[in-house]
Amino acid sequence: MKIVKSVSGMQEASRQARSEGKKIVLVPTMGFLHQGHKRLLDIGRHSGGLLVLSIFVNPTQFGPKEDLSSYPRDFDRDCAIAKSAGVDIIFAPEPEDVYPKGFDTFIEVAGLSNRLCGLSRPGHFRGVATVVLKLFNMVMPDKAIFGKKDYQQLAIIRKMAKDLDLSLEIIGVDTVREADGLAMSSRNSYLSTEERSEAKCIPESIEEAKKEFSKGVRQSSLIIEKVKKIIEKQPLAVIDYIKVCDKDSLEDLSIIEDSAQLFLAVKIGKARLIDNCLLAAE
Ligand code: PAJ
Repeated sequence: MKIVKSVSGMQEASRQARSEGKKIVLVPTMGFLHQGHKRLLDIGRHSGGLLVLSIFVNPTQFGPKEDLSSYPRDFDRDCAIAKSAGVDIIFAPEPEDVYPKGFDTFIEVAGLSNRLCGLSRPGHFRGVATVVLKLFNMVMPDKAIFGKKDYQQLAIIRKMAKDLDLSLEIIGVDTVREADGLAMSSRNSYLSTEERSEAKCIPESIEEAKKEFSKGVRQSSLIIEKVKKIIEKQPLAVIDYIKVCDKDSLEDLSIIEDSAQLFLAVKIGKARLIDNCLLAAE
């Protein structure tokens, strides 16, 4: 396994691999790897070719009051996980190399970025879209793999790829969960024991929503009310949003016709946790 730190070094390695006829698969992350990231790497490994894991805590996707400086990092542990997952190259550039002095160009995916998390985190998806396009240009992958845990992010990246005619395949992977259903996230490490125990309310409320849907409830407000009640029982949980949306446009749905995507963002202590699920007939 090689560790590449410079942008030019990564581009050189990718050019080399391509000239040898190898396909390149990229899994972009911000590090502090967990089993969710590991699943993406396993899928990457099985799709063949050169497997590149990028680790970059991207400053442009954090708001001024967000957790950029305290975001958890453990490069040595990440390297060990990457090695065991069969990663060929870890690409871990420095912020000054990704955003040199005078950097001025940003990617804005209008519409999809201005809903859900985009409202609570202004500028977040502009930073995500920009860094992801830059990573694509640095690594030149044939395939890039993302998690559905960050459903809106995945939708935005797919839209960017379509709108900008990017020549690569975007693969979405189902959310990997802890034994009690909580979606794995690097930010779960912020939770105290008490907060972690309260966080169970998120997957529990999702299960309740699915139950209501399977009973035939199609009015979004009724489903949202059920979810809200479960979360509000936890004294440390503060709801940012609970929404039932069209799974493609991410626009609010008041009545569910065939299917919908339920989205939640809940703050527990220092951690802002997000989750989502599909509501659809089985
Ligand atoms: P990060 O939060 O490190 O996540 C990296 C990738 O892992 C994302 O595609 C995310 O959706 C996926 N992932 C995280 N938790 C998961 C889980 N429990 N199950 C399945 N997949 C999971 O998302 C980012 O980094 C950044 O925004 C990035 C795309 C790297 C751009 O900076």
